[in-house]
Amino acid sequence: MPTYNEAENVKFVIPGIFAQAEKISTHELHVLVVDDNSPDGTQDVVSGLMKQYKNLHLISGKKEGLGEAYKRGMAYASENLSPDLVFEMDADGQHDASLIPLFIDLANHGFSLVIGSRFAPGGSTPDFSFRRKLISLVGNWMIRFLGGLPRIHDCTSGYRCIKAEVLEKCEFGFLSTRGYSFQSSLLFELLRNGAHVIEVPIVFPDRQYGESKLSMQDQVEFLVNIAKLRFRQSEEFIKFLIVGFSGVFVNLGIYIFLTRVLGVALEVASPIAIEISIITNFLLNHYWTFNDRTTETSFFHKLFRFHMAAGVAGVVNYAVFLLLLNVFNMHDILSNIIGICAGALFNYFLNSYWTWKKIEAGTDANESEQGAPDPASGAKLP
Ligand code: GDD
Ligand code: MN
Repeated sequence: MPTYNEAENVKFVIPGIFAQAEKISTHELHVLVVDDNSPDGTQDVVSGLMKQYKNLHLISGKKEGLGEAYKRGMAYASENLSPDLVFEMDADGQHDASLIPLFIDLANHGFSLVIGSRFAPGGSTPDFSFRRKLISLVGNWMIRFLGGLPRIHDCTSGYRCIKAEVLEKCEFGFLSTRGYSFQSSLLFELLRNGAHVIEVPIVFPDRQYGESKLSMQDQVEFLVNIAKLRFRQSEEFIKFLIVGFSGVFVNLGIYIFLTRVLGVALEVASPIAIEISIITNFLLNHYWTFNDRTTETSFFHKLFRFHMAAGVAGVVNYAVFLLLLNVFNMHDILSNIIGICAGALFNYFLNSYWTWKKIEAGTDANESEQGAPDPASGAKLP
């Protein structure tokens, strides 16, 4: 639970959380407060409460943004508290603590990420100003459809329950430092690591005391972050295109070298240049584009498949070229450009889903949803 100037709020929010402990049978409940040296004495209040609650913990640090506070807190928790589940929760009373047992039940039913969702059907933000509502809705819409997380209604929620085993797979260095963008980039990382997600509709009323700490700067980082997420998603494809482009120069360079310097016959130089550029493309893709994939085929098996894919891509390129040229009467250069694009796309998909086919890890992503309750539809848990 991150805090900055929440002295008035933590007085009742923390006891409200511990009051849930008796309704939880499968887990022991701890609260870790991550305070950024709040000048209002938040830490004194928390220290006072620690005498009463032995499972209450406090760490402090410099104020570097909500995301930084969460990163510190999550690292501390995983090192010192060996958690099974990690919650994110605000300290200002906007998150209803009585939902904690429900979140845990859902986690026990196989959901590795439970999101308290203001924008899923049934959720609401009754006290948001028109401006805040607009920012929140437009922001979520952008991250969903531009950032590539269309299935999730509330991508910036600060109320979540996460299985530690998935959280530990996330690359924390990549996550943003500030408010909304930390939340959306963490969500993105969790999904990338196979999190099995469910949204629970929540009502998000006004905070009890004080005011929101999220600023204009948080909103700016949020926008920049969408582009970052988008790039990360298509990173392999972009790298593949760069490699393909480099192959053109390798091919041409070798061809010129063989014919102009070594005096090799043109008909012989061309296939040598083609083969060498296929090999350099292969090596670059192997050690760069797809280097963090876990696959089950051997290096030489991949090299073979890469050649096959290049052959198929060549045929696709040629077929599209002929089709556009003869049937659609297009200009030959344009026909060839479109043919090259079609070939490159084919090539990418063949190599991505065949040559460097990922081993499907037994992550939650593959779990069946059978028997899992759907709170959004009003189903009750057993
Ligand atoms: N340690 C620390 N450092 N805590 C912080 C900081 C910080 O820099 N900034 C905010 N917090 C704490 C607050 O004290 C509060 O407990 C919690 O983080 C949420 O901050 P608020 O300032 O109350 O945020 P909000 O209510 O405007 O925003 C909520 O909705 C956003 C999306 O609309 C939060 O749930 C955000 O996480 C969420 O992205
Ligand atoms: Mn708040």
